[in-house]
Amino acid sequence: MKVLVIGQGGREHALVWKLKQSPKVTEVYCAPGNAGTALDGRNVDIASTDIGALVRFAQNEEIGLTVVGPEAPLVAGVVDAFQKAGLTVFGPSKAAAQLEGSKIFCKDILRKANVPTAEAWAFSSADEAIRFLRDREESPFVIKADGLAAGKGVTVCANRDEALAAVRQAMTLKEFGVAGEKILIEETLIGEEVSILAIVDGRTIIPLEPAQDHKRAYDDDLGPNTGGMGAYTPASFATPELMATVIEKILIPTVHTMKKQGCEFRGILYAGIMLTTQGPKVLEYNVRMGDPETQPVLMRLKTDLFEILLAAAEGRLKDFDAIEWDDRTAVCVVMAAQGYPNKYPKGQVIRGLDAAAPLADVKVFHAGTDQMGSDIVTNGGRVLGVTALGDDVADAKRKAYEAVKLIRWEGGWCRKDISDKARLGDLIRHGGMKPKGIPGEDTPASESVAADETPSE
Ligand code: AMP
Ligand code: GLY
Repeated sequence: MKVLVIGQGGREHALVWKLKQSPKVTEVYCAPGNAGTALDGRNVDIASTDIGALVRFAQNEEIGLTVVGPEAPLVAGVVDAFQKAGLTVFGPSKAAAQLEGSKIFCKDILRKANVPTAEAWAFSSADEAIRFLRDREESPFVIKADGLAAGKGVTVCANRDEALAAVRQAMTLKEFGVAGEKILIEETLIGEEVSILAIVDGRTIIPLEPAQDHKRAYDDDLGPNTGGMGAYTPASFATPELMATVIEKILIPTVHTMKKQGCEFRGILYAGIMLTTQGPKVLEYNVRMGDPETQPVLMRLKTDLFEILLAAAEGRLKDFDAIEWDDRTAVCVVMAAQGYPNKYPKGQVIRGLDAAAPLADVKVFHAGTDQMGSDIVTNGGRVLGVTALGDDVADAKRKAYEAVKLIRWEGGWCRKDISDKARLGDLIRHGGMKPKGIPGEDTPASESVAADETPSE
């Protein structure tokens, strides 16, 4: 069967690479793809938001399954258009993608589902939001543009002045366009963050192995927010008990409530979770795989990804008892262009990819890359996701950074501390540290979690 992956980042390269391994898949196309997806699959020169052209391509090529990587086409209704054309596609409908496309919609679902989350207040007028902040006792708030803002719409503010500035940025200066016409003002949650992703077919939920992203640009979580500078899996503090709590108190009620609201959820449900002293709380939902979490998660996946995603797209997930995982740890280090997450140059020649390619247990996923003649050049802020499997976190980290050392381009850089947060998990598990609200200190984290079903109506 032929498969189409929509998107062009590191997540999509990992999807193409993994889907291509299925004995049932004859060809994987990627629209528009990058230099890496062209090596592991075949690129198609169609933008990920050109829905009409994507549908026509899938019809002409008789694509058996389409997998949508990024959120923008999902929120724009790509899944509805494919389904209308009789094509099989994995991802949520336009209505269900509102879970990521509108933070106010998401908060409403979380409240209806009684899922633990930060308190929040919605505003559609700058004056009212400013009055709210002035009238309240000074405390740290998070200001969120309601709509999609390319990962820039969330500002974590230390004090009232920062919060007022963030409200003006979104609502008065309209820096995020229509996405900032409405905002949420949210209480700030404190704790460790973990990404818990699940494959959902509307009714059955199969959680993937928990991963941890590193959102800040620089070591020790300093500097500006980014799309993610590296990730590792399993996230050691996401113990089986914690996973069970997340499934029972967060994922199941959310999927159930979406169904009750008439927007059944099919696709990847990605819960960004803060492990607070009161237990896990949802920071936000995404409706697609995480980038860079996908890269290390798929390195560890042993089950045929094509079979799982096809079953989910066809509503047959309950046929899967569980997913098989490689017990080892995977670490992904993002190599970025000089200046990222602000302005950065493009077109810089990347050297050393050939030297890194033969390394055992290492895969260099491309993100912002392009082919120029015989050279592979930079074409984005996050350029590569160098991913390695190891016997433990230290081993995987060492292998990933050994590969990183072989690759270079002018101004290319990366964080040096990806996966060091895992030590916190080790401290928790071995009893050195017992934060309240994180259950299961003494259980290993690498067991996979069985599939579950949402309660029937
Ligand atoms: P983004 O993925 O760009 O939407 O950014 C979301 C990030 O903002 C999360 O990963 C958190 O680091 C942070 N964040 C969002 N909501 C809160 C909150 N209520 N308290 C603290 N940090 C938050
Ligand atoms: N890694 C964060 C995201 O995909 O949104």
